[in-house]
Amino acid sequence: MPGDVRFGLVGYGLFGAHHARVIESTPGAQLVAIAAKSDRSRLVARQTHAQATIFEDYAALVQSDEVDVVDIVAPNALHYEMARAALLEGKHVLLEKPMALEVRHCDELIALADARQRVLAVNHELRLSSLWGGAKALIDKGAIGEPLYALIELARFPYRRGSEGWRYDMAQVGNWILEEPIHFFDLARWYMSSRGEPTSLYARANGRRVAQPALQDNFSAMVNFPGEAYAVVSQTLAAFGHHVTAKIAGAEGLIWAWWSAADARSDKPQFGLRWGLGETVQELHFDKPTGELLELADQIAAMVRAVRDGAALPCTGHDGRWSTRLCLAAQQSVETGSSVALAAAEGFDAS
Ligand SMILES: NC(=O)c1ccc[n+]([C@@H]2O[C@H](COP(=O)([O-])OP(=O)(O)OC[C@H]3O[C@@H](n4cnc5c(N)ncnc54)[C@H](OP(=O)(O)O)[C@@H]3O)[C@@H](O)[C@H]2O)c1
Repeated sequence: MPGDVRFGLVGYGLFGAHHARVIESTPGAQLVAIAAKSDRSRLVARQTHAQATIFEDYAALVQSDEVDVVDIVAPNALHYEMARAALLEGKHVLLEKPMALEVRHCDELIALADARQRVLAVNHELRLSSLWGGAKALIDKGAIGEPLYALIELARFPYRRGSEGWRYDMAQVGNWILEEPIHFFDLARWYMSSRGEPTSLYARANGRRVAQPALQDNFSAMVNFPGEAYAVVSQTLAAFGHHVTAKIAGAEGLIWAWWSAADARSDKPQFGLRWGLGETVQELHFDKPTGELLELADQIAAMVRAVRDGAALPCTGHDGRWSTRLCLAAQQSVETGSSVALAAAEGFDAS
């Protein structure tokens, strides 16, 4: 029997505390260390996870011989430096989205992980959902023919500020597209994967809440894929609850999936999926519920399998780079009013 995979968690805020709880309840995973910034966070971490070593400084955690995987759940601007430090110490890395705030930093992390043969995973957990994954399985088995069009849309309450208000600080968050639309860019690219990689993008945003040009409530982007295929990703933060809809169409029909609750972390959502064309409509029956925290548990289990058995990841560094890249291109498009070409993959510069 291989030993448990030992996780060191960096960041013990709202989502980090969920990571900690989930790691502890995942077979084959052990939570051995937590790095938290404030005295208060360290105190709560110590009281809640008595078996874990609590560090003041993430640099000491990534150097610990007790740690196999560094799980990074800190403000966005810290992802790159923390992941880089962990990979340089020879650790595997599970990185919350966005992978980094610059494409060249994503490239550097991918190169480091490759050179050291370490696992580098990015948490786009919707890929693990019975609902959003159910839509992907239907596309892959040809239920709607080749996908030509996707609309993925969210209406939700305004973002939480986060520890010390980092989510409303451009230097810390990057931009708001990197916070939540990034998940939908990832889904759109995943659903359209048979068409090839995105070729160009046009985006608009409005509804500034603060004196920060990039932090806007309403956001929409149209992403073009090879041939005629395109996807629309759209979000408003001037809303209530958390309501996501996806409509994916091909010549042979439409998939319509929805998820709705008071909060993304709710365990009592309403959700469903129907697909069909004209008079013929079918409904997907789920043997598993879906929600951010359930998918987080599946993500940690997938990380254990990847580290221990070399199993394939649901979302790789390459995927995390693409979702980051699409968000940065969207920001560029919002600012310039022009569409951004993505075709020259390596020539793209949105850093
Ligand atoms: N995949 C998803 O669906 C999902 C959902 C939510 C969040 N996220 C991502 O998860 C990350 C954290 O979000 P959150 O909502 O948990 O934010 P949060 O509640 O503000 O927590 C951030 C935590 O990071 C800690 N921190 C800051 N600097 C640190 C450092 N140098 N060393 C160690 N810890 C440090 C903060 O410490 P103090 O408390 O001591 O200040 C805080 O506890 C973000 O990147 C966010 O985008 C992803």
